[in-house]
Amino acid sequence: MGPASASRPFSNTLNPQTRLALERGIDLKNLPHHIALIMDGNGRWAQERGLPRVAGHKAGVDALRETITTCVRLGIEYLSAYAFSTENWGRPQEEVDYLMHLFAKTLIAELPLFKQENVRIAFLGDIEALPQKTRDIFHKGLSETSSHTGMVLALAVNYGARAEIARAARLIAQATADKKIRTDEIDAHLFSHYLYTAGMPDPELLIRTSGEMRLSNFLLFQLAYAELFLCDTYWPDFSCETLLDAIFSFQGRHRRFGKIEEGVHEC
Ligand code: FPP
Repeated sequence: MGPASASRPFSNTLNPQTRLALERGIDLKNLPHHIALIMDGNGRWAQERGLPRVAGHKAGVDALRETITTCVRLGIEYLSAYAFSTENWGRPQEEVDYLMHLFAKTLIAELPLFKQENVRIAFLGDIEALPQKTRDIFHKGLSETSSHTGMVLALAVNYGARAEIARAARLIAQATADKKIRTDEIDAHLFSHYLYTAGMPDPELLIRTSGEMRLSNFLLFQLAYAELFLCDTYWPDFSCETLLDAIFSFQGRHRRFGKIEEGVHEC
């Protein structure tokens, strides 16, 4: 064994992301099953470079691709990314149009990656209200990845948690009126089946970039017990290393879910 390989404790047969995770002390048996992302700071990243805001969104796609690849390589099962909120329609029309075009272009461009990496696409939010071209490409993405059995990439587009919760309440009211469910059956578990995330576990880790400390109407029901990782990095600068920092931080948390530490009984 030469000096270079002697200084590297982990096998070279591991993929680079997993090797880096192990070198950083990450426990691969204690990874979050579901990571949620608020990708924030694209506009500021661009403005600080004297570029138009949309250049930040374009650079943000590269950061998302790197994050998807890292999550796949680590074996994360679900990744949810907030791409466009129900409130984002209030941005200048030019930026909204650019984002709709970027989403469609990105989905088409990344389909080969999703096929290669066995990633299944899902959407959170009302995608039927999107411009026709974007909507059609999203449906193509859904059908062409529907048989994939690897990581689920849930893209939140035209998503707002309050609208999602109101929609679930409407669907439950209708199911009750149709006598498909009884009112005494309605609890948090049943409610979760009427959310866009039905069938997915709740995220254990929420990452928000750019120094903001808000949930901004993202997965309000599902994030009830998520651990938060807030970093100053603007989304386009988010990398494999930042993601590993977030996972390392997550693994150091004591998750009690409203209970107390085992073995602590004194009052
Ligand atoms: C927030 O930054 C980011 C967005 C509104 C868009 C993020 C979208 C992507 C990275 C592409 C997603 C791809 C698909 C296929 C859905 P901001 O504009 O709020 O930044 P600011 O807070 O600095 O203004």
